[in-house]
Amino acid sequence: KKDIVILGIESSCDDTSAAVIRNGVLLSNVTASQAVHEAYGGVVPELASRAHQQNVVPVVDQALKRAGVTKEELSAVAFTRGPGLMGSLLVGVSFAKGFARALGIPMIEVNHLQGHVLAHFIKEDEGDHDQPEFPFLCLLVSGGNSQIILVKAYNDMEVLGQTIDDAAGEAIDKCSKVMGLGYPGGPIIDRLARQGNPQAYSFAKPHIGGYDYSFSGLKTSFLYSLRDWMKEDPDFIEHHKEDLAASLEHTIVDILMKKLRQAVKDTGIRQVAVAGGVSANNGLRNAFREHADKYGWKIFIPKFSYTTDNAAMIAITGYFKYQDKDFCTIDMPAYSRVTL
Ligand code: KG4
Repeated sequence: KKDIVILGIESSCDDTSAAVIRNGVLLSNVTASQAVHEAYGGVVPELASRAHQQNVVPVVDQALKRAGVTKEELSAVAFTRGPGLMGSLLVGVSFAKGFARALGIPMIEVNHLQGHVLAHFIKEDEGDHDQPEFPFLCLLVSGGNSQIILVKAYNDMEVLGQTIDDAAGEAIDKCSKVMGLGYPGGPIIDRLARQGNPQAYSFAKPHIGGYDYSFSGLKTSFLYSLRDWMKEDPDFIEHHKEDLAASLEHTIVDILMKKLRQAVKDTGIRQVAVAGGVSANNGLRNAFREHADKYGWKIFIPKFSYTTDNAAMIAITGYFKYQDKDFCTIDMPAYSRVTL
């Protein structure tokens, strides 16, 4: 039987990434991150597109080289269609289409969110791996999304609840910006939080029904509290940054876990995965482990390298779609907004 070799390409935000998967096993995953945005405290779309343009060819070359695969061996090219920044997406989408067309092989469009969920199926070797079985629940938390997803199959996912305003990562990044910390704030808050007291301060939690989330109230509450405290002590942030970080992280993790517990209770599904950039967070990872111990959840936490944007998750999704012959045509557009 012929090998299935998939090249995955991801360019939805500020990481240009390419990965090669052979018969479901990851051979390479190369990512070029863009430092250019740090000076601006956030991703500047125009600069992101330009950096993708510079990075995409070398990154794909590297991925093929590290995998020891020639382009003639590829079975298909999978690419992130969206959601993401339009200018960024267009670079990866256009490259992937041109590359696939030149090689005369199929192209596969991948929903970035589906990719984050299916990151749990990335295998680094042929061995047996503890992977979720269907159906399972997945908490997808990133800079752009906060969702509870019921995963019924590789290609069948239902969003049970999602944020009605900011995403969890966005809230962390914005609060960190208010504190004058660097960008992105997530990893910085994570590091500071480990030295702080999570009970030191309390911030507003949302009161909304169902499995939906809201983080804009927390952000405002954080901002106003800081403003009040700084009237008393202008160096309040400097004096208390560890406690502030720990309390903020604790509040966000609490909000996330509360709805997830409810979803587990209501569906009776106790296999629970976490995915997306914020799943790198140690507070959230610990909360998952505590829930596993306390409530008997079987939990799935991805490797750090597969939490943030990467092409390995796009390639593995492409691998599943290839088996379904779920190909797309060259007129498939990029979508900045697309749901699961
Ligand atoms: O999935 P991702 O790479 O892409 C986007 O959705 O854009 O997620 C990025 C988000 C950012 O908000 C970042 O601050 C957050 O994930 N993040 C973290 C940590 N590492 C990254 N948040 C909390 N703790 C972390 N260790």
